Amino acid sequence: MTLRYHATAPSNIAFLKYWGKADEARQWPANDSLSMTLTDLQSQTTAQLAPDLGDHEIILNERPVQRGQRQGDKIFKHLDHLAKVVGRTTPLRVTSRNTFPTGSGIASSASGLAALTISALAAWLEAGTWEDLTTKGFDRDRLAHLARQGSGSAGRSLYGGIVAWNKGESPEKQQITPLWAADHWPLADVIVLFSEDEKSVSSTAAHRAAWTSPLFAPRLAALPHRRRDMEAAIAERDLERLGPLLEQEALEMHGVIMSATPAVHYFGKETGAFLASLRQWRQDEQIPVYFTIDAGPNVHLILEQKYLEKLLKILQQRCPQHQLLVDRIGPGPTLTAGP
Ligand code: PMV
Repeated sequence: MTLRYHATAPSNIAFLKYWGKADEARQWPANDSLSMTLTDLQSQTTAQLAPDLGDHEIILNERPVQRGQRQGDKIFKHLDHLAKVVGRTTPLRVTSRNTFPTGSGIASSASGLAALTISALAAWLEAGTWEDLTTKGFDRDRLAHLARQGSGSAGRSLYGGIVAWNKGESPEKQQITPLWAADHWPLADVIVLFSEDEKSVSSTAAHRAAWTSPLFAPRLAALPHRRRDMEAAIAERDLERLGPLLEQEALEMHGVIMSATPAVHYFGKETGAFLASLRQWRQDEQIPVYFTIDAGPNVHLILEQKYLEKLLKILQQRCPQHQLLVDRIGPGPTLTAGP
């Protein structure tokens, strides 16, 4: 009987953003990044060997996707790459769903490509546990680097807690390392959804555009210092120190692409107005909550879990029209096998 290999991989939210590639072909980032792995916002992917098929069969969020389609292409390309690495030609039957809207700036590519990497390799290698995968030459580190090749931020979703992607001195020396386990600091992420539409500009195009911004070189020069400050704040569990760095970092990333050629605008009026009012009511209500934003219009509110109830009440009173997704720091991906 051919088993089904089921992987779940959570999304992650970057505190220090991976933005710009130093070597696109080898997926070498322009800078180090740091992220928090989430829990409930995840991709759930099942892969099964399908020798009866001529090509992989991919069902994404209940819909078949094909080669040549925008979403399909990334998946097929990644499967072709993994097949080569693992030396297999048998097609796979893959079913995947996200627990959140795809392409809404909640990095579905991070969780999606991470879960695909784990389940596809598990199916080809007939390895139902992490130990089996390791025995067969694919430990967590190798999986993280393979996931990174599908989508940069996906590499960080192979681990839980707070994760670093270190650029290193060359593409071969880059590293993905968990820095703190999820229980180090019970943080939450409340996502304020402004749009569930697909992004109008892919992150690949925006990574390219970054180099044309006059703000990019000064950003790269200042990042090592910001990283040290962020890590010190995380080590001390000091949100009042981390928070302003998170906001600066997100606004800087968006400043880079907004001042690029061609300019990329991921957030509009609504997002901007929300950020201004957040800064006001943070003071009024005396609640330590800070924002970050990835490549999309939605705002991630980072806070300690003990303030979650208070924050949700405030949001309910001040902006009941916005849809929210509530998540928290988590332990990372899972792998199981079954009939
Ligand atoms: O993984 P990509 O190529 O979709 O890039 C995503 C980059 C950001 O999400 C905006 C930042 C990050 O570090 O995750």
